[in-house]
Amino acid sequence: MCGIIGIVGNRPVAGRLIEGLKRLEYRGYDSAGIAVIQEIDGQSTLVRRRAKGKIVKLEERVKLEPVDGFLGIAHTRWATHGAVTKTNAHPHFAGQVGVVHNGIIENFTELRGALKDKRSFHTQTDTEVVAHMIDEAMRTGLSGQDAFAQTLKQLRGAFALGVVIDGVAGQIFAARKGPPLAIGIGDGENYIGSDAIALSSLSKQIIYLEEGDWAVLTDDNIQIYDAKDTEVKRDITHITGSMAAAEKGNYRHFMRKEIYEQPETTAHTLTHYIDAFNHKVKTEDALKLKGLDFKTVERVSFIACGTAAYAAMVAKYWFEQLAHLPTDMDVASEFRYRRPALTDNTLAMAVSQSGETADTLAALRYCKDHGLQTGVLVNVLSSTMAREADYVLPINAGPEIGVASTKAFTAQLTALLSLAITAGVQRGHIDTQAEKRLVDSLTHIPRHINETLKLDGQIENLAHMLSKAKSVFYLGRGVHYPLALEGALKLKEISYIHAEGYAAGELKHGPIALIEEGTPVIVIAPSDELFEKTISNLQEVATRGAKVVLITDNKGAKHAHNMVPHIIVCPDVSPVTAPIIYAITIQLLSYHTAVHLGTDVDQPRNLAKSVTVE
Ligand code: G6P
Repeated sequence: MCGIIGIVGNRPVAGRLIEGLKRLEYRGYDSAGIAVIQEIDGQSTLVRRRAKGKIVKLEERVKLEPVDGFLGIAHTRWATHGAVTKTNAHPHFAGQVGVVHNGIIENFTELRGALKDKRSFHTQTDTEVVAHMIDEAMRTGLSGQDAFAQTLKQLRGAFALGVVIDGVAGQIFAARKGPPLAIGIGDGENYIGSDAIALSSLSKQIIYLEEGDWAVLTDDNIQIYDAKDTEVKRDITHITGSMAAAEKGNYRHFMRKEIYEQPETTAHTLTHYIDAFNHKVKTEDALKLKGLDFKTVERVSFIACGTAAYAAMVAKYWFEQLAHLPTDMDVASEFRYRRPALTDNTLAMAVSQSGETADTLAALRYCKDHGLQTGVLVNVLSSTMAREADYVLPINAGPEIGVASTKAFTAQLTALLSLAITAGVQRGHIDTQAEKRLVDSLTHIPRHINETLKLDGQIENLAHMLSKAKSVFYLGRGVHYPLALEGALKLKEISYIHAEGYAAGELKHGPIALIEEGTPVIVIAPSDELFEKTISNLQEVATRGAKVVLITDNKGAKHAHNMVPHIIVCPDVSPVTAPIIYAITIQLLSYHTAVHLGTDVDQPRNLAKSVTVE
């Protein structure tokens, strides 16, 4: 949701800013820009280059008309206010001031109105007014720092800002209220970036600004102030581990690489949650969950968005079936506004790959403010949610770059299933024998995913058929209903084909009217206790001309072989782990359909990986 990077340094910055932007492209990619303070004819001048489209377009533009200097900021945009045009691309300038911004300035119309007699505005963005306000404040005699601090006080909304001012020697100003902003410490240089990934080639020492913080960076000094303008010290985090996961390697797309990483990533998740040797879930101590005891929890309330919400929806089934624990799942953007009746002893559990999604974060804070205990199941451990929740449950999937979530989804499911079993054990609904059986089936997940990946060729062929469809339906029952929703989401996200997921039994209550000759219907149905019912629904659509693809196991395939034209046969797995294994098939199906259609698989249109606006 827009990416920011800035360098105040001792050598040219333009090339490095653009490199950093490429690492942030997952946050938005409709236009990009760079501003530097450059010496022109012995005079320092604020100059910029901007381009509509992806970062390569900006790179080409900078090659044609180079700019460079020792201090600069850059931005990749995911448009919120104002169309996708070069004029609306950041950085925005007013007088001496250049601004990059991630988030939304909610009161921008009012602020623009207050300046309308003095200033002319050139863009439709909510950002431009910030540059005007700082510039205007400096005209009243304030220093750059004071003008920045004064402006911040007048902004409402959620924002991360990077500001450079021509004539204010060697300083970058930064602020964070809502979306994350990190400061990187260098050798004779300092940096700002939307996350540690952006700064990974520049610095391994990161300071995460806290809510309401603002900062002034020079090449050899970093001063941080809190929302009350008191100077504060913030911890330095040492970033370890290789950034290899952020490279594509031999794969054509990040998404394909991330799909193929799943045997390994789910194994990492499992290491955290189960003791395979002793066939037990790890205790709360080992999970660093001191204080969280599912015995005293009376309700679990999941909050999440997008793919994470579908993982949580699967978990609702698991927590209720395995732990007899009443469980809700709310889409985070709805949670606060429906004014839920919160009860004591509810555990509010956010599920988020990034840990930064604005709606999920707001819902988490709402629960905290209402006195609930809060947890987050998260991939990015340095994220805001991980810092704010009472209990942090890692999924350990490694950096996920493809905008459409794959390995984070299966890691979320793996962790959630482990937790549901933990809850069942703690609450006395799972005895030692059952625990052993369940833990053993968890240990097979990586191997079963590996076997499922071998279906790649067959799925690629089926994808050719899907790529011609106008509309595709996904059906599932029980835990496979949320998987049907995820299958449809994945297909629309990256192939732009209209797709809907339904509870198999619900189709006949309306959506079946949409089925016509040749409409593809993907039915997810392992041979479990609900199999026969789902097969009846399958027949209802088949007799109306649907082209059915059944995703099942060997037994299911034997049963249905003369009913449907296409069957994808997954390995025979325990019913409890089936959604995790079957997820691989729907990921591959979307991936190959998108590749066949030639869409931008890793950066599909209009989407962003981390959505830090409401
Ligand atoms: C965006 C992404 C989705 C993701 C959702 C939630 O919409 O495009 O792939 O599922 O955000 O993200 P989170 O980081 O909170 O899991």
